[in-house]
Amino acid sequence: MSLLGKHILSCSIFDIELLQQLFSVADQLQPVSRGKKVCRILEGAVLGNLFFEASTRTRLSFDSAFMRLGGSVSNTTGEAVTSISKGESLADTSRVISGYYDILVVRHPDEQAVYEIAGATHIPVLNGGNGAGEHPTQALLDLYTVSREFKRLGKEISSSRIALVGDLRYGRTVHSLLRLLSLFQNLTIYCVSPSILPMPRELLDMAANGGHKIVETGDPKVGLKDIDLLYATRVQKERFACTETAFNYGSDFRVDQALVNAHCKPDVIVMHPLPRDSRAGANDLSDDLNQDERLAIFRQTDAGIPIRMALFASVLGVDHLIPSALRDATWYRPKYIGPNDASFYTEK
Ligand code: NCD
Repeated sequence: MSLLGKHILSCSIFDIELLQQLFSVADQLQPVSRGKKVCRILEGAVLGNLFFEASTRTRLSFDSAFMRLGGSVSNTTGEAVTSISKGESLADTSRVISGYYDILVVRHPDEQAVYEIAGATHIPVLNGGNGAGEHPTQALLDLYTVSREFKRLGKEISSSRIALVGDLRYGRTVHSLLRLLSLFQNLTIYCVSPSILPMPRELLDMAANGGHKIVETGDPKVGLKDIDLLYATRVQKERFACTETAFNYGSDFRVDQALVNAHCKPDVIVMHPLPRDSRAGANDLSDDLNQDERLAIFRQTDAGIPIRMALFASVLGVDHLIPSALRDATWYRPKYIGPNDASFYTEK
């Protein structure tokens, strides 16, 4: 199967072979994402980036990925500035703007909206997050990060032990990630959440039917023992229905140095899709892990560029042009982006 011309709305379209193809394209584009090489395979193409919900890294990394491949980007942020506020249907908007762009990225708080937009156009649509549904491109960059981190540590994804921690009910990144992880073999997956915020049953059943061992627990001490990957999430308060608003999300789910030291192995990898809530009392992933090399969150955000470039190149059918299009970049770039990067980035 190939991604050529496809909408990418859910991780359910992926199989292992497709993931391997995509990751190999992302590997080829690593030097472009790091400003070492130029590759203008999308010169002349235009991306319509439609974000009807808050975003920093998803929107900006889609922008950067498209522009680094030589394409141009047009951004719309918020419904208020579109004709949707005048009563236009999503289908009309989709068909109209499809005449302007070669590909669309859409983030929308309503889970169905991205399907309505995709249903009204043959221009490829990439889901940048649909309500509490899915966030496929985030899961792809997450899995790409896991595969690179595990390779560095001499581990395989199959047969590993993984904890998904936090708001598993409304966290769309873990919904998509669980779909991708389920493609591997023999995983043990701990779903660690308050009982009011569990992983949706349909996704648990899908993973169990794939032969994986699923353990649901509200106790991080149970869920974090012997794991290879801890994937923490932010509480999605903006999606709480009134039944959950009074819920007090306790410090049990705060992922900090003390918790990781007490319950995790020395070679665990700690990830989070970000943003993390760093305000006092937020009980999210703590800043006190920032100097701990097990924390992979910035390697994870960096992976968003090669993965999103690989998606654009594959969906628009120019991935085969990469080797002959690569040339040296000439502007100044520091050797490493962040102060802690030296031990993780070996490519020139
Ligand atoms: C996530 C999202 O928007 O779903 N952020 C992201 O895109 N990296 C996670 C979140 O908002 O908590």
